Amino acid sequence: MSKDKNKWRKSTNLVHEAEPRTAYGETGETLFLTSGYVYDSAEQAQARFLGEDNGYQYSRFGNPTVRSFEKRMIAIESADFIADTGFEIDARATATGMAAVTATMLCYLKAGDHVVAAEALFGSCRYIVETLLPRYGIKTTLIDGTDLNAWEHAALPETKIFFLESPTNPMLDILDIEAISEIAHRHDALMVVDNVFATPVLQNPFTLGADIVIYSATKHIDGQGRCLGGIVLGRKDWIDDYLANFIRQTGPSISPFNAWVMLKSLETMELRVHAHCDRAEKLAEVLSTHPKVSRLIYPGNPNHPHYKLAQKQMQRGGNLISFEVSGGQKAAFQVANNLQLVKISNNLGDAKSLITHPSTTTHLKLEEQERLKVGITPGTLRVSVGLEDPQDLIDDFVKALELLGS
Ligand SMILES: Cc1ncc(COP(=O)(O)O)c(C=O)c1O
Repeated sequence: MSKDKNKWRKSTNLVHEAEPRTAYGETGETLFLTSGYVYDSAEQAQARFLGEDNGYQYSRFGNPTVRSFEKRMIAIESADFIADTGFEIDARATATGMAAVTATMLCYLKAGDHVVAAEALFGSCRYIVETLLPRYGIKTTLIDGTDLNAWEHAALPETKIFFLESPTNPMLDILDIEAISEIAHRHDALMVVDNVFATPVLQNPFTLGADIVIYSATKHIDGQGRCLGGIVLGRKDWIDDYLANFIRQTGPSISPFNAWVMLKSLETMELRVHAHCDRAEKLAEVLSTHPKVSRLIYPGNPNHPHYKLAQKQMQRGGNLISFEVSGGQKAAFQVANNLQLVKISNNLGDAKSLITHPSTTTHLKLEEQERLKVGITPGTLRVSVGLEDPQDLIDDFVKALELLGS
């Protein structure tokens, strides 16, 4: 497959792209569960370390199963646009999504540099930007990511990275990736997009101008709640110059086993993501008119404040729904506790539907006023819609809401 990389479309790449088969001709890709590699001679070992021989050396730096996962991700991200831009994408997989975010920042930035980021970020991403980077002399500015002027005004001569996620976690704001990329490039900054909520099926940030795309593979890529993983995709020269050596030396590498799980899961990701969306659309419709729901937020719903933009840059609205019940934390806890089928968990992108109360879990570490500023009220719940029968999901929510206050 890799010989004709640009020949196949995304769905085909999701199933086939990988390192070549071994001499046994296996159909299922091999799991190379090995930490090291043996050399034919001391001379060959030396040549590998000198970079004069292309074989593997140690799984912290590279592993054939990990490379298969990276190659499959590169192929699907490249499928839609690489042919006409000449922008060659490479990738490095990491142990978690947070390792991917941290490695991206730390491999490239140095003291004195500046980062502009949307304030609506997953809690740990916000910790990296707001707390960790400044400790190393990297200045950061958090802004309302939906305000294009705010990006423009926050940029400084020393700005090196613009960072955002879209849809945002958990309030599902849609940020204009194309317009923000244009501002980033005018200021010579890299546009880094955390594409976790949208998935590579529904949104391709490279086609919208992004330079680096990050995933927590833990979510829809695995899709069955088993393994942690992450991946950073970007221009090959940036990966070669910054990320590859950082990962080699500091070691946030993914386990070959987890990479193999991710690789195999990619084969069904497109089908799964569309099935998730089918269910999310139905559930969002019911919740949007339910008398006990004071606010429904779903990017695929025409009442979403950024619906038009969502239509432009995403194929569908995704599988995350947020909604608010009046009665604050007490009412939100009651709804979560009343659900029988939907499980309480802060993970997302699983085949099982999961619900979380962001202000007491994923965004607990933020000050209350910071939470309120990005719209996370005590009555807000976030649902990751799974793959159950849609009517069972609707029934579960309707019953849980009916019991509210009783
Ligand atoms: C938007 C977003 N980015 C990054 C992460 C971090 O991923 P991981 O849990 O794999 O480290 C998460 C999830 O937890 C997330 O929701």
